[in-house]
Amino acid sequence: MQNFTYQNRTKIIFGKGAEREIGSEVRKYSDKILLLYGGGAVKEYGIYDKVLSSLRESRVEVAELGGVQPNPRLKLVKEGIELCKSENINFVLAVGGGSVIDTAKAISIGVPYEGNVWDFYSSDKLIEETLPIGTVLTIPAAGSESSPGSVITKEEGGYKRVAESERLRPEFSILNPEFTYTLPDYQTASGAADIMSHVMERYFTNEPRVGFTDRLSEATLKTVINNTPKAMEEPENYSVRSQLMWASTVAHNGLLGTGRIEDWASHDIEHELSGMYDITHGAGLAIIFPAWMNYVYQNNVERFAQFAARVWNLDPNYFSLEETAVEGIRKLEEFYRSIDLPTQLKDLEVEITDEDLEEMSEKCTESGPVGNFVELEKEDVLNIYKLAQ
Ligand code: NZQ
Ligand code: ZN
Repeated sequence: MQNFTYQNRTKIIFGKGAEREIGSEVRKYSDKILLLYGGGAVKEYGIYDKVLSSLRESRVEVAELGGVQPNPRLKLVKEGIELCKSENINFVLAVGGGSVIDTAKAISIGVPYEGNVWDFYSSDKLIEETLPIGTVLTIPAAGSESSPGSVITKEEGGYKRVAESERLRPEFSILNPEFTYTLPDYQTASGAADIMSHVMERYFTNEPRVGFTDRLSEATLKTVINNTPKAMEEPENYSVRSQLMWASTVAHNGLLGTGRIEDWASHDIEHELSGMYDITHGAGLAIIFPAWMNYVYQNNVERFAQFAARVWNLDPNYFSLEETAVEGIRKLEEFYRSIDLPTQLKDLEVEITDEDLEEMSEKCTESGPVGNFVELEKEDVLNIYKLAQ
């Protein structure tokens, strides 16, 4: 096990009625805020009204910006930065999913910075100052509600890139599982694939003796596998929705990566897809992750066999080690298909040519190889896209 430092400052306020605490939490930071939201779901389903009511009760003045799209764009980030500067706002409250939260994070980087906020996404430039942000989560998926990352897409060239800093962890996140009852099945399923991927990016490590976090990871995966079909059958089942919501935060709050070298190749490879074709990130991962697994499993068959045995209950005494490993990957694909996710590029409603695959592989590795479980060069990334076809 590797040495590590673990700190996650985000305060999680979880459960029914948690939104009543928004106003008092916000007031600890500011009495004038930017309220940021997406394309309409939060207004349509009454979440917006509840948030506003708590803010009014605490006499918080509000400027609004709506219209954040999935795979959030740089243009709206810049609008938000200008709005905060002109209105003298120093706190951003994101109400929505990863896209809204990541936009809030980008605005929080851009307001105190004189240059172009994209500098932090296109290079390793250190983030030295940010505005504080809070979140009201409406979809368990990205984990941005307590993660140190923000993922933004620059429209020209379809570049989807990540900025990362401990400073980007929200001050607080409000998690009411009832707010997720209205999710379309496709978003529930895509969210599940994203949560599972955040666990698996950490699970597939060559680091020995990480048994404790292996077990925590397996429990998180099993929770998602058991509860996602139930959430699709009974969207208003509080118990099921709450399991998924908490699993999503724990999957990406850093705990499961402690003491291990994490991988992240599948995310890098997927971000090229959702950056260029505007597909749902979790659905993209349902395609890319199994392809990545098939490409790399021989580098550590034991770890893949452990995944198969413990997560998918396969009997390693019945199959050979390698058969067990392969069967585990097949089970994962079968699960994704059972919740109506695509598992191959051809399942998507977009046309992706061989030249496009070439371009994505090039962009994906332009700053060097991706992944740690196995380091992947451009040719490897291209082979993974081809396996996913
Ligand atoms: O468009 P609206 O009307 O706002 O509806 C949204 C959106 O269309 C809808 N939705 C959200 N809550 C709802 C709801 N519909 C009904 N009822 C509700 N309660 O769901 C759609 C997807 O929303 P989005 O915010 O895009 O979802 P998600 O949380 O999956 O976020 C995805 C983004 O996060 C990034 C992804 O790359 C992607 O851009 N990620 C961010 C990470 C981070 N910051 O740490 C890590 C992840 O790996 C990921 O890359
Ligand atoms: Zn993800």
